[in-house]
Amino acid sequence: MLHCGIIGCGRICPNHFVTLNQHPDVAIRWLCDLQVHNTAPFANSLSNVRTTPSADDVFKDPSVDFVNILTDHASHYLLAKQALLAGKHVIVEKPFTIEPEHARELVALATANRLKIICISQHRFDPMINQIRALVQKGKLGTLLQINGRLLCGRSTEYYSESYWHGRSAIDGGSALINQGYHMLDIILSMAGIPAKLNAYAARRAHVDLIETEDTISLQCVFNNGALGSLNITSGYAKEEWNAEIEMVGTDGRIVFDLHSPHQPPVIDVQGVNFSEIMQTVTRTYQKVGIGYYGDLHDLQIKDFISSLIEDRSPAFLPQHAVDTVTVIHQAYASAHRNGFAWGSIS
Ligand SMILES: NC(=O)c1ccc[n+]([C@@H]2O[C@H](COP(=O)([O-])OP(=O)(O)OC[C@H]3O[C@@H](n4cnc5c(N)ncnc54)[C@H](O)[C@@H]3O)[C@@H](O)[C@H]2O)c1
Repeated sequence: MLHCGIIGCGRICPNHFVTLNQHPDVAIRWLCDLQVHNTAPFANSLSNVRTTPSADDVFKDPSVDFVNILTDHASHYLLAKQALLAGKHVIVEKPFTIEPEHARELVALATANRLKIICISQHRFDPMINQIRALVQKGKLGTLLQINGRLLCGRSTEYYSESYWHGRSAIDGGSALINQGYHMLDIILSMAGIPAKLNAYAARRAHVDLIETEDTISLQCVFNNGALGSLNITSGYAKEEWNAEIEMVGTDGRIVFDLHSPHQPPVIDVQGVNFSEIMQTVTRTYQKVGIGYYGDLHDLQIKDFISSLIEDRSPAFLPQHAVDTVTVIHQAYASAHRNGFAWGSIS
């Protein structure tokens, strides 16, 4: 039996809790949150769990094998470092860290101590997206010309006003890209690799008195394989909806799919490929866990991590890829700042 501690019991916690709580090889030992009352909805359904506002209590417990760090972006680095130094394996929510060098340091520390660390990147476990990636990697689209991503989503006034960190540049590290657009960028990188060149523009157009960060951002990239890419994200839309379309165009075909609605059939216009036949081989439940648009893919990645501990093998999604994603995000913000965008300041 593996014992774990959850650190941070906020909006994303149900997506971790359900998998951990139902897993036959895992017992949740600790629920930790600075606001300790946030642990109550989860603690109430467990018989043998301790709650605490201090992550140190979790790290000091020798029975704990791994921790799930589900806190704000700025706290990921130090909490993960303390966990590794205490000999715990680590799952960190996305983004791995705000600063790329912190992410690299965590990977090096885990390697030196023979510990496993992963960053959540649940869409990399989506069977449909993996089928699409396989088609692209087999060259079915011919020469890849363009990858275009567009995320249209809305965040309410309460989303910012009721949070101590959303929209704060020092804690969130950005918004539209590092927070809402993270997965779209991450999946594009998983298809096309790291951009060789990147240029970005950012703006703060909605909730201007509430946030210091960007709500709208546009990236243009040249990938190492020569394909061009664009990524346009806004979280300033009036409605709380998620429209997250990725389009890949090659000389021999085109694929379009929605990242957050993977059960909706993608457009596959590739000669000789019958995607409905492929999809019949893909089994998914698409059950709602926690907040609806978070999806149910966490289950697949967390179960893979637990198996990697039991079988003493590498997890399927290596942390180096999460370092790459954080590095590209850092480059994009640096470019946006060079192009005139500045963080704001709110009290
Ligand atoms: N993978 C996804 O699709 C997805 C979706 C939503 C959020 N997230 C990520 O999950 C993380 C948490 O986001 P959220 O929306 O749940 O935030 P949240 O604000 O709802 O919850 C964070 C919780 O962490 C607690 N906390 C902060 N610092 C702490 C510390 N040092 N020790 C103990 N508790 C501490 C806070 O009190 C808060 O309750 C973020 O990294 C976010 O980007 C990922």
